[in-house]
Amino acid sequence: MLADTHKLLWEAQRGRYAVGHFNINNMEIVQGVVHAAQRMKSPVILATSEGALNYAGMKYLYALARVASENARVPVALHLDHGRDVSIIKEAIRVGYSSVMIDASHESFERNVLITRRVVGWARRKHISVEAELGTIGGVEDTVRSRNILYTDPIKAKEFVERTGCDSLAVAIGTSHGAYKFEGRAKLHQQLLEEIRQKVKIPLVLHGASGVPLALITQAEKYGAKLTGVQGVPDVEIRSAIRRGICKINTDTDIRVAFDAAVRKVISTQPQDFDPRHILGPAREIIQRVVEQRMKLFGSVGKA
Ligand code: G3H
Ligand code: 13P
Ligand code: ZN
Repeated sequence: MLADTHKLLWEAQRGRYAVGHFNINNMEIVQGVVHAAQRMKSPVILATSEGALNYAGMKYLYALARVASENARVPVALHLDHGRDVSIIKEAIRVGYSSVMIDASHESFERNVLITRRVVGWARRKHISVEAELGTIGGVEDTVRSRNILYTDPIKAKEFVERTGCDSLAVAIGTSHGAYKFEGRAKLHQQLLEEIRQKVKIPLVLHGASGVPLALITQAEKYGAKLTGVQGVPDVEIRSAIRRGICKINTDTDIRVAFDAAVRKVISTQPQDFDPRHILGPAREIIQRVVEQRMKLFGSVGKA
């Protein structure tokens, strides 16, 4: 059975660590992530973006997550990431995701409240928890684009949570989605996070949190990728955000870079090998290693 996101996040909040949310797009990513969770004895949240669902189909990704959770001896939850299309959110609730995100952060405050409250109403009936977003996280995803970061206002955050009844809140404190995050490394607005934490008692979520380790970039570039200038969030900022109350952390870009680095290596070094298992197997392994590192950083090791 899929794990209960709500429970995982409250346990993390009480234990002062963060549960990793990892974006999945195919079987190799699911297995890499869940093998890491098993090895680290860590709870984990698998997440599908609308882009992932358009690519693979909800039934396929749901089935992969279900099988992974049934085989694992650690809690594995399935979450809808950045839900904007109401029909996709309703479908995720219907099929039995552990949690959904409604991302109406691009709307006015009042419309964000209205839309989020509506989704909370649908999800409640099925005991599914809802993550919402206030403020705007920078960067680019398939279906979500925003150039600037609009920091979350702590007073508005309190009002937002009270009026919507959402279960967790994604905050904009200086991170950004995707690979080209910052000029120089990210500096998070930790003081602002502290102010939000004082006003909002539900679990807080950090998006755009990939660290983009130099070793991955170096490997990918060695085999032809052009990633110079890609920057991530330093570990020290992540640790400090967890101390100030972040208890769910989203990672996608690190998985993409790991996948890319591994596939390029096989294709460049074994040009005569066209067996997909030989091409994708190493990607699964490197993803596992990356996710294990993230779990150590998040403090979720041994919490399953
Ligand atoms: O923030 C979410 C992910 O990076 C999703 O990216 O929409 O391209 O799947 P995607
Ligand atoms: P990254 O692009 O930093 O991995 O962030 C992913 C994310 O926030 C998914 O919701
Ligand atoms: Zn995100």
